[in-house]
Amino acid sequence: MDRRTFLKNAMVVSMAAGLADTAAAAERYFPTKVDQSLFDGINRVKNPGQKTPLEKTHAPVLKAPEMVKAGEPFVVEVSVGEALHVMGPVHWIEYIELNIGNEPAGRIDFEPKGYLKPRASFTVMLPAEAASGGKVTLVARQRCNLHGLWEGSLDIALS
Ligand SMILES: [Fe+2]
Repeated sequence: MDRRTFLKNAMVVSMAAGLADTAAAAERYFPTKVDQSLFDGINRVKNPGQKTPLEKTHAPVLKAPEMVKAGEPFVVEVSVGEALHVMGPVHWIEYIELNIGNEPAGRIDFEPKGYLKPRASFTVMLPAEAASGGKVTLVARQRCNLHGLWEGSLDIALS
């Protein structure tokens, strides 16, 4: 074998080995098999009386006063989920956002360092015109890096 053929063969072998190493490293870094259907749309609790384990740890849970007054601030707390989701470098909540009906109100991003728990408090103040029929729907969304986008909502009365 001449030098040129040897180098060419060595390069092909090392490239194949490199790809195998990369795939193995990705397997080690993301050991959890991901259900791709969770990334097809927005996930919601299907039966609130019988939440699945995935729904219990991913569907945002909102806490807010049942009735608020226009122009007066109140706190909306959003937890992911009813049993708090894990937060680490392999599996974490990327963000929590709050909408007032269809209007984006705010968003908190999380780093995958494990310093924070996936719970956020938003101080909200609604104008009287935010309510249709005296009711406002608070909508929270969160995104898990392995389990997709999830949504929860809560209706409150506005006077
Ligand atoms: Fe998750």
